Amino acid sequence: MTKSVVIIGATSSLARSLAHQLAQRGTNLYLAARDEVELDRIAQDLKIRYHVSVGWSRFEALEFESHREICDRILAAANPLEGVILCMGELGNQPTAQTDINHALAIIQSNYTGAVSILTPLANALEQQGSGWIVGIGSVAGDRGRQSNYVYGSAKGALTLFLQGLRSRLSKVGVHVMTVKPGFMDTKMTFGLPGLFLVAQPDDVARDILKAVQKRKNTVYLPWFWWGIMTIIRAIPEPIFKKMKL
Ligand SMILES: NC(=O)c1ccc[n+]([C@@H]2O[C@H](COP(=O)([O-])OP(=O)(O)OC[C@H]3O[C@@H](n4cnc5c(N)ncnc54)[C@H](OP(=O)(O)O)[C@@H]3O)[C@@H](O)[C@H]2O)c1
Repeated sequence: MTKSVVIIGATSSLARSLAHQLAQRGTNLYLAARDEVELDRIAQDLKIRYHVSVGWSRFEALEFESHREICDRILAAANPLEGVILCMGELGNQPTAQTDINHALAIIQSNYTGAVSILTPLANALEQQGSGWIVGIGSVAGDRGRQSNYVYGSAKGALTLFLQGLRSRLSKVGVHVMTVKPGFMDTKMTFGLPGLFLVAQPDDVARDILKAVQKRKNTVYLPWFWWGIMTIIRAIPEPIFKKMKL
């Protein structure tokens, strides 16, 4: 029986690339995101192009009370489950988050607590199944708190630690958890932002994610050179770092 991959945040630019590449190789998909019209459009397109089964459900990270039911629906449809990819993320606006606590909390819930809420029951289902994988999309922004985006960065950093602990727990039952830390990507999230450099295409990042999960990598920086950049950024002593305008 063909296994299914679940993509949370399926309307993201990166998720669309992942969905196409997975469907192209005959994988069934289950998509979850908050824009129902767009979800239906993506699902129809994938079905027509690749003749795979594609289910979908509306998912809003901030609506915690709905997550259990959505998870039950996902597990009933995406069975057997090959893997789960968490693509959702909200960059938000750092200056706004410094004065509007509701905006700051929405960023944290969209990137972290919402992710914990939906990933936990899906991880438990994979644990029971005794096979499969989870890919969580973090960010290089989670490696060090920077003045320009520390609310988003702190949520991504917390997600990285959550995935690390989950990886350790699930490795005992044959379920693999991979953390992805992309640098800048050319997506809806970064559209029109100034000061971007070394911007990667989501198709290339998606291809590298699927290769890395097959090799059961634990953490990957994508493109690879962000590992070097972040090693340098993490090594800058705090007294110097706090004077920089990063
Ligand atoms: N682009 C970059 O430079 C970059 C760099 C590092 C890491 N990342 C991470 O890469 C992942 C993919 O992002 P992307 O670049 O492809 O950006 P994107 O196109 O903006 O995708 C973000 C996704 O998250 C969803 N989302 C945001 N808040 C949500 C909420 N409260 N509930 C449910 N869904 C929510 C969005 O839904 P809507 O479509 O409805 O808005 C969209 O599907 C994200 O985790 C992002 O943080 C991106």
